[in-house]
Amino acid sequence: MSVLLICTGRDPQVWVNAIREQQPDIKLYVYPEAHDPQEIKYAVTWKHPKGVFNKYPNLEVIASIGAGVDHIISDPEIPKNTLITRIIDEQLTRDMSTFILSLVLDKMRNISVHHGKKTWNPLPYQTLNDEKIGIMGLGVLGKAAAQTLSSNGFKVAGWSKSRKQIEGVSTYHGERGLQDFLKSTSILICLLPLTSETECILKKELFEQLPKGAYLINVARGEHLVEHDLLEMLDKGQLSGASLDVFRTEPLPEEHPFWKHPKVHITPHIASVTDPKKVVFQLMENYKRMLQRKPLMNIVELKKEY
Ligand code: GLV
Repeated sequence: MSVLLICTGRDPQVWVNAIREQQPDIKLYVYPEAHDPQEIKYAVTWKHPKGVFNKYPNLEVIASIGAGVDHIISDPEIPKNTLITRIIDEQLTRDMSTFILSLVLDKMRNISVHHGKKTWNPLPYQTLNDEKIGIMGLGVLGKAAAQTLSSNGFKVAGWSKSRKQIEGVSTYHGERGLQDFLKSTSILICLLPLTSETECILKKELFEQLPKGAYLINVARGEHLVEHDLLEMLDKGQLSGASLDVFRTEPLPEEHPFWKHPKVHITPHIASVTDPKKVVFQLMENYKRMLQRKPLMNIVELKKEY
């Protein structure tokens, strides 16, 4: 049996090297190199061409090389009965938390504003007590971000689909909890998984429930955001600014209005990127478990879509 690597938008060679280092004797094919589809039971993937997995009659597992699996689940032609796994990794989680912390501090202290100005003009800044952080999504990444911000002295609230409890964090859940959560959030951070329920959740009706002048940080997926609603809310002053790390189309097209908007701060999907060397062990461990018919780690619940 062999492993298939399908990796678009990221360099496949670093994954090949990491996999071979971990398991030198592995039979590994890198899509689209010639191979017999019958041989493939395990696929390691990032943004595969839609429908491609239909060609693999013996495929048992599709392993995402990232924390997100929306790039897999959004393919309506994923063969039934294949298991989907995701990455859960301490470094990936920590990188996300520290990235968010740096964006929050930058926003409060106007650091990039000062860098951009090249004039001696000290601006008033916000302190810890001025901001109320609200995190949407309390999975592995959201919970860690909430804890990091809380342990740095921030007032933190979290919202999730089902009830969660996190020490030091006020938690809200479900449709009913959303309104109360938004009402007292001055910096809204989206860390939700992208599912059919959360797509376009960051829209006008939601922004209007935030206090005037709130700030948005989206480090989840571009599809969470209704882009023209954000522009409208920024122009009306309902939102004071937004830091966006993810976009519907990546790289963000040159002509996109976000590039020129003075209140939109763009980073090129760098919040937290999987380090192949750190996670290849779990990918190969799952491969072995699959061959030995043992339960796999980090399986995605298809019904929940994450
Ligand atoms: C990155 O965006 C990931 O899902 O790991």
